[in-house]
Amino acid sequence: MTQKRNLISVLDMKDEWSELVELAIKLKAERGNHNAPLDGKTLAMMFEKPSTRTRISFDVAITELGGHALYIDVSKMQMGHGETVEDTAKVMSRFVHGIMYRAFDYKMMDKIGDNSSVPVISGLDDLEHPCQALADMVTVKEKKGGFRGRKLVYLGDGNNVCNSLLYAAAILGLDMVACCPATRMPNAEIMLAAARIADANGSRITASHDPAEACVDADVLYTDTWISMGDSTPEETALKLFKMYQINDGLLSIAKKDCIVMHCLPAHRGQEITGDVMDGPHSVVFDQAENRLHAQKAVLYKLLK
Ligand code: CP
Ligand code: NVA
Repeated sequence: MTQKRNLISVLDMKDEWSELVELAIKLKAERGNHNAPLDGKTLAMMFEKPSTRTRISFDVAITELGGHALYIDVSKMQMGHGETVEDTAKVMSRFVHGIMYRAFDYKMMDKIGDNSSVPVISGLDDLEHPCQALADMVTVKEKKGGFRGRKLVYLGDGNNVCNSLLYAAAILGLDMVACCPATRMPNAEIMLAAARIADANGSRITASHDPAEACVDADVLYTDTWISMGDSTPEETALKLFKMYQINDGLLSIAKKDCIVMHCLPAHRGQEITGDVMDGPHSVVFDQAENRLHAQKAVLYKLLK
């Protein structure tokens, strides 16, 4: 029997990241003809926070692969009412073939991952969002033809999405600049680890606080909400802090002419991105959202088959 594996951090599947991107692209082309490789498999989807894309794309992904998804609102589980997280993971492992979990706290994610005997896939926590990063890399590959020599600039809050992107970019050899205010840089350990991986790969992971400088020659501009779920920063404070990091026509004019604009969504039009840019010719945000489905099929196939 092979050991079960998790995808909680991008690094958990570091050596297969390239293969996952290719598999997602293949499964996208084969949509409707999958031959039920996950026939009889059940995925439990535990949510502590709201979701549109993650919930729907995982449900559709496993259904189209022949399996079945269970949506679970964590606040309605016994786990929130006295049962330990460890016992919960052990019990769930007796019922289902995989667990997808969206958590507030990465420590809870790790506990579920460590105590479950079936694969645990992160649907986002406060530290990472690996499935988003995989869909993002599929999108970059489709739109830009590859990773080497391409430059992605992430603008705004150095959050979970940014952290996973740093790892994914470093692994695949994409140059990435995390352009964030000094007080909202990505996780320092992740930034350092990603920079080391990139060094070994001949690519570059750098930091900047200056969007006008960072966006020069960019192939991809990427942003996310300025206030993540569970972040108590007042809106007024965030609006001031991040104002200069908004993706708008001005920043777009600094990037390469064929630059694409990405956002993991949900977007706050008029904050981190203008409505004009989001609906404009550079935006690939809806293709990117669709790629969640194909990317997650690749993950489910690799971990649950
Ligand atoms: N991008 C993303 O994870 O979206 P949801 O919060 O809608 O799942
Ligand atoms: N950074 C955002 C991503 C939402 C998909 C959050 O954590 O709320």
